[in-house]
Amino acid sequence: MDKNVSSSQPLRGEISVPGDKSISHRAVMIGAISEGTTEITGFLKAADPLSTIGCFQSLGIDHKFDGDRLLIYGKGLHGLRASSTMLDAGNSGTTIRLISGILAGQQFPTTISGDQYLVKRPMKRILDPLKRMGAKISATESFTAPLTIEPVDHLQAIDYELPIASAQVKSAVLFAGLYAQGITRVIELEPSRDHTERMLNLTPETKDGKTVISVTAGKKLIARPFTVPGDPSSAAFFIVAGLIVHGSELKISNVGLNPTRIGFLTVLRKMGASITIENERTVGGEPLGDLVVRSSELRTDIVLNGDIIPNIIDEIPILSVAAAFAVGRFEVRDAKDLRNKETDRITAVCANLRRMGLEVEEYPDGFAFDSKNNLLHNTFDSYDDHRIAMAFGIASLALQGESTIHDAGCVSISFPTFWETIQVLQR
Ligand code: S3P
Repeated sequence: MDKNVSSSQPLRGEISVPGDKSISHRAVMIGAISEGTTEITGFLKAADPLSTIGCFQSLGIDHKFDGDRLLIYGKGLHGLRASSTMLDAGNSGTTIRLISGILAGQQFPTTISGDQYLVKRPMKRILDPLKRMGAKISATESFTAPLTIEPVDHLQAIDYELPIASAQVKSAVLFAGLYAQGITRVIELEPSRDHTERMLNLTPETKDGKTVISVTAGKKLIARPFTVPGDPSSAAFFIVAGLIVHGSELKISNVGLNPTRIGFLTVLRKMGASITIENERTVGGEPLGDLVVRSSELRTDIVLNGDIIPNIIDEIPILSVAAAFAVGRFEVRDAKDLRNKETDRITAVCANLRRMGLEVEEYPDGFAFDSKNNLLHNTFDSYDDHRIAMAFGIASLALQGESTIHDAGCVSISFPTFWETIQVLQR
């Protein structure tokens, strides 16, 4: 589906964004291996978390949608059963990487794969620690899916210092740790999203500037309800829309404000963004609030690198769009893992920014550009990547004339109502 997007009148009104994708995946996974029924409120009913549900359905876990609630009928740590078919993680890196940690501890074999994009993404990052724990897990010669996981007598706890800052790798090891003999410790040098720790009630410790998260095997998980806040990564698109479309003032209610996710707010405020947080509260162990955004004259001259990168990894495409409408130079470094996302997001962002008329320098681990007046409307490619489609959909609202987003339907991965939500703010 191609989407035509024209220069927008001011965006006004109040919206909410769909539930957090990372938390939705984890709520289903933890629910499936807990004893009893897990009630999830605000679950993100989008393609990626639905892939997680589909995998657990194949592993014998029932679920029911009931209005805004999703019920997962958990069967405990050892209640999953062999699937008669290969599991399908679709487009979802979170599904395949996290579930592999759980599958490594099962007494039956499983094969899992995904769509044409997922089978190109690197899996060595989870294969290495899981093999060290004794898991029998194999992949293609290039360490990609399909992954086949065979049963082993037992997994062994390990101490694992993460070689890359990845919440997916951290979570896969923690899930496998639930099945391993001994205490599994994951050591993080740079912080990454901490939803798994929070949802499993694990308490991280800080030692010599490193974070250590420990998990002990064999402890029963008892079902408890989860409330999923609005996804800050989805809110980021409308925050930037409000900033760059002149005369806008909008409110986004019920947005998750977990500190490991909102580095992008700090970056935007440094750029001069008017964003205020109202009604801050904590629900189900996650902080949230309502955000009020007013269009702002943005200045950049910012280099994003180092420790902040894992925190803003999913927001770099939309931050780049904000910077394109700011005055100054914008540079991203230390972000080579962006090349391993749903698409190579460095290539995709650079190509689309160039179509707006910017001269962009591309590096192995990032890119840079200087601002320019009179950006051009054009046709932008989504590369079938939801965050690229949404980032350049928002850019199109602030460009003069009509732009087109190619393959715009991929927003269904994380934000199925994205295009309609724009219209709500234009009414
Ligand atoms: C996610 C972690 C991040 C992020 C992805 C979701 C998660 O990936 O990019 O969209 O839910 O754990 P990495 O941890 O691999 O960087």
